[in-house]
Parts: sequence; C-alpha cells; structure tokens
Amino acid sequence: MGEIVLSGIRPTGPLHLGNYMGAVTNFVKMQENNRCYFFVADYHSLTTHPLAEHLQENIKQVLSEYLAAGIDPNKSTLYIQSDLPETAELYLYLNMNAYIGELERTTTYKDKKSKQPTNINAGLLTYPTLMAADILIHRATKVPVGKDQEQHLEMTRTFGNRFNRMYNYDLFPEATAYNFGEELVKIPGLDGSGKMGKSEGVDNCLYLSDSPEALKKKIMKALTDSGPTQMNQEKPVYIENLFTILNAVGTNDTVQYFEDQWNNCTIRYGDFKKQIFEDVNAFLTPIRERIHDIRSNDEYLGKVAKQGAEQARESASATMKEVRRLIGIKSLF
Ligand code: TYM
Repeated sequence: MGEIVLSGIRPTGPLHLGNYMGAVTNFVKMQENNRCYFFVADYHSLTTHPLAEHLQENIKQVLSEYLAAGIDPNKSTLYIQSDLPETAELYLYLNMNAYIGELERTTTYKDKKSKQPTNINAGLLTYPTLMAADILIHRATKVPVGKDQEQHLEMTRTFGNRFNRMYNYDLFPEATAYNFGEELVKIPGLDGSGKMGKSEGVDNCLYLSDSPEALKKKIMKALTDSGPTQMNQEKPVYIENLFTILNAVGTNDTVQYFEDQWNNCTIRYGDFKKQIFEDVNAFLTPIRERIHDIRSNDEYLGKVAKQGAEQARESASATMKEVRRLIGIKSLF
C-alpha cells in the first residue's frame, strides 16, 4: 500500500504553526493511502534536560495536538518514541558506524553548540543517528518535515546505505523529505529573523493552542517599519515573513490584495496585521477546540498510546530481527 511514511515532533512545548505546516498537514494528507507512522520524539527532547513532570505534560499535550490536527489513530500508527525501546538499540548500532567528523559538521549541531555552549552533550552530537534509527526502524520511504530537517534526512540515507554496504544486504530503503508543495516549508517567526521555533521564545511562535487574545497580541506586536516609499519596492525580511504567514493560512485573493497595496505604497500595517490575526484565528479555532477536548481525556490518550506502541513494535521487531542477524548479535540460550 503506497509509501511507508514516518514523521515525528519533539515534545519540548506545544505545537506551533511551523510544526503544523512543516510536518503535520502533509502527514494527514498521506494517511489515507499509505502506511503511516507518527510519533512523539521524547528521547530527542532529553538533550535539554527537561524536568520529568514537564516532559510528561508535554508528551500528553503533543499527542493531543496530533489527534486534534487530524492524525487518525485508526488509520496511522501514532506512538511515543520511548514506548519503542528498539529505537534505542538501533541507535546504538548505527552509532558504531557514524563518524565524529560527519556528526560535527551537522548544521543543527553547530547551531546548538553556539546557542548552548554550556550543554554540548553526546546526545546533541548523535541527534542525527537517533533520527535515522526512527526512520530506518520502519524502513520508511517518505518523511514529511520542514526545511530545517533536510540535512538530517540526507544523513539518514548515508547511514542506511552504509549499513547495507557493510553487511552486503539491501535492508534499508532511501527515505526522502516530503512536502505536497514543490518545496519544503519554512514558516518564519514573528520577530523578523529566523524560523518559528520552540526555542526562539513564546512571542515568536503562534501556538495551535493559543487563545485568540494571545494570537492577536503577538501578531499586532510583530516587527514592521514606517512602510514602503517606492512603488514595487523589495520587501525587507520581516515584512516578507508576515506575507509568508498570511499566505499559509489566508486565501490567494487576500494575499494579492495586500501585495498590491504594498506595491503601490498604500499598505497600512494595522489593517494588514488585523487580517493576519483573523485568518490565523479562523484557521486555528477548530483545532484549538479539539485540543482542549482531547487533552482532558487521559484515558483516551492512554488507549491511543498503547495501541500505537503495539503496532509500532510489529514493524520494528521485524526490522530488528534482520539487523541483529546481519550484525551477529544472537543470544546463546
Ligand atoms: P521538531 O520538534 O524540532 O520539529 C518538528 C517538525 O516541525 C517542523 N518545523 C517547521 N516546519 C516549517 N516551519 C517551521 N518554522 C518549523 N519548525 C519546525 C520540523 O521540520 C519538523 O518536521 N528532528 C525532528 C524530530 C524527529 C523526526 C524524526 C522527524 C525526530 N525523529 C524522524 C522526522 C522523522 C525535529 O526537528 O523536531
């Protein structure tokens, strides 16, 4: 049945519009015709040492948000990474053939190294091998992710091919990053600089669970300037970013209306931001309401996690049996 699709998100906070556009919508569209796995990447979130109670809370929150966003546990396998400890075993094997040089060259690692110089741990360095283990354990072929994950996917192909070559066996297929549009998505944050990201601060992110008041406050505060002074002037990054956000949630007509206003220098940022707020809010309101309902039902979340763990294990144990056989790991009793 179609492709084997897998994607995951770290439970380091509630989901934001970037996560939704980069990973979740594409996944939801694929779950009808493909074998789909979606998981909460709790092992990955340990690189920043969260408190146990925060981690538990975030896992439940993210699981609720996946469900609210349309991931159907009866069509897809929805599980929590640590409920599949085979992932950690495959991570260990892959680390034996991952070279320090290639890990140190990873952009996300270099980025974290400069942002958190007092906590450069081995988990950060080997983040790409853990991610490869997630993907290879189900022998996935398509991975819906945002633009920032492209390099990790390339490393996954390197590790999988290297394993196949070393053991002279065609076990792992090549997985590619996937988006329904032509390009992988990058939703910008509200501060006018980089991407919308959980580590960039709460005011930079539009969370799926934000109240209308919170959304409005953040959008109205987004960085702008005194407006264009020349017809068809190029937009500064922070204005381009606001157009990207409007484009993600609004209609083509609305975007065109403000593009024209920009081009003839009549744009009023107050109206522009109000429109962005209205479109973001209309887009997120049904999701927010579902998150609220699902999050209050711990029993349901437990059932979903259990069912997901059982299904994920079926696929993972078939792969691990082959991996152990090829490597020569076999118990003597
Ligand atoms: P995380 O939690 O950082 O991001 C989860 C997903 O959201 C996407 N994303 C974005 N997409 C567009 N615009 C943005 N501003 C934006 N911010 C985040 C990310 O690209 C990602 O798809 N390493 C993964 C988690 C992971 C994983 C995996 C994913 C672990 N194992 C295996 C796929 C397959 C991550 O970055 O999580």
